[in-house]
Amino acid sequence: MTDQVAPGIIRKLWAGEAEIFRDHLLRLDADSRRFRFGSAVSDEFVARYAARAFRSGAIVHGCFVDGELRAAAELYPLGDVLPGEAEAAFSVEHAYQNHGLGTLLLERVILIARNRGIRTLCLNCLAQNRRMQQIARKFDAELSFDSDEVVASLNAPFPTALSLAREAAADAQGMAGAVLQAQRLATGRMFDLFLPAGPAAAAPELAGS
Ligand SMILES: CC(C)(COP(=O)(O)OP(=O)(O)OC[C@H]1O[C@@H](n2cnc3c(N)ncnc32)[C@H](O)[C@@H]1OP(=O)(O)O)[C@@H](O)C(=O)NCCC(=O)NCCS
Repeated sequence: MTDQVAPGIIRKLWAGEAEIFRDHLLRLDADSRRFRFGSAVSDEFVARYAARAFRSGAIVHGCFVDGELRAAAELYPLGDVLPGEAEAAFSVEHAYQNHGLGTLLLERVILIARNRGIRTLCLNCLAQNRRMQQIARKFDAELSFDSDEVVASLNAPFPTALSLAREAAADAQGMAGAVLQAQRLATGRMFDLFLPAGPAAAAPELAGS
């Protein structure tokens, strides 16, 4: 695990990115997967879950580090018409945990909930999941403890012009980041096509020495 994590880009995921979301969830180590889903689940379960997430109306945010999705936050509004409540779930890959990504994602989820008139946000987690509880506490969540589960409820404030503008600015920034990422990827592929691979090919005079 590295001590430093390069600053990532947080943006909404599109429905067409379900596979990227699935691959991220599949990369969670066994403990993180258990904490995320509440019990040990198979790869097949995770793949089905990721495919359904967008169809079920979830708003999914992702944190991309060096172009790879390393953390995600899902917001599930409860109810079809003007839902006042929602559930949220978080996943950060092992090497990227404890670097503030979960906190940043919860902050974003609260903003998104707030702008949709959702006042109560519930986070379900296992009782041993102290890290998730610590993050929820930072946002003044009320924690209710069952034997092996904790429900953290927190209230989102009413939306304001400023909170709507913050979401719009975050979306614009995320979109710009996604375009830059795509450009970088495309440029990398161009170099791969036109430059022969390997140091010997790049400097043939060294190959015979
Ligand atoms: C839980 C999870 C989302 C947190 O994200 P993260 O990026 O690791 O968390 P952050 O770095 O933002 O914050 C972690 C906080 O927990 C604290 N912490 C770490 N280990 C802790 C422990 N054992 N006990 C108490 N607090 C702990 C850190 O000090 C930090 O708090 P601080 O900012 O006040 O110092 C992430 O670890 C994860 O995905 N875990 C596996 C899946 C999961 O548990 N999902 C949640 C259930 S839906």
